[in-house]
Amino acid sequence: MIKSVKLQDGTELTIRDLARQDLEALMEFFGSLSPEDRRYLRNDVTNRKTMEQRLNLMDFGYHFRIGAFQGDKLVAEAALELPFEEWRRNQGEVRVLIGGPFQRRGLGMLLLRELYCLALRQKVDTVVIWMMKPQVGAQNLARKMGFHDVSILPDYVRDQDGQMQDLVIMKSGVLALMKEIEKFYGEVDWHACS
Ligand SMILES: CC(C)(COP(=O)(O)OP(=O)(O)OC[C@H]1O[C@@H](n2cnc3c(N)ncnc32)[C@H](O)[C@@H]1OP(=O)(O)O)[C@@H](O)C(=O)NCCC(=O)NCCS
Repeated sequence: MIKSVKLQDGTELTIRDLARQDLEALMEFFGSLSPEDRRYLRNDVTNRKTMEQRLNLMDFGYHFRIGAFQGDKLVAEAALELPFEEWRRNQGEVRVLIGGPFQRRGLGMLLLRELYCLALRQKVDTVVIWMMKPQVGAQNLARKMGFHDVSILPDYVRDQDGQMQDLVIMKSGVLALMKEIEKFYGEVDWHACS
């Protein structure tokens, strides 16, 4: 998948699938994140080995990663992860990470739209987002996008500073999410998104 998108302010970006060859661009992107944004991520994204292994996981067909590029520079990444376990095969977990200069410019919503296309193609019926409690922006984005079902597991995960944090899980049916996002973009031809 490769497509051009325009942010509300007219900035043009390219969204495309990520591959192993994008490791350098990813490391540069992760290195540019603020310590506060990095703190609540589930992995130390500055650890090259971990990030390489994460990219390699795409080979198994359960993890899908896309990136938004300005020219050659990666400015955001997003992922759809399908669980290996059979009891959760109906689910897809989405994750979005936007670089500081591109936050609050509508890119998170655009990347979610792409992830829904991917989810539809992978026959996912329930989409979940896992976040740490302090990731308030992400929770607001999810709420705006129609994730109304929220569960909280107190003191369940450890942030990158070693502090225990509440895990917030938001979920919604993929069809309901598609309807919700059409309120912002108008009718989307979901089967044509490629
Ligand atoms: C949270 C994040 C994904 C949001 O993406 P984004 O491109 O900045 O968000 P958008 O511009 O698409 O915003 C859509 C809506 O989300 C909400 N939102 C986004 N960022 C917010 C923030 N910092 N504070 C409060 N609400 C926020 C708002 O409702 C916003 O709509 P509005 O601008 O009309 O008020 C992005 O800022 C990010 O990656 N942050 C750091 C890491 C992180 O928390 N990742 C999430 C892991 S699942």
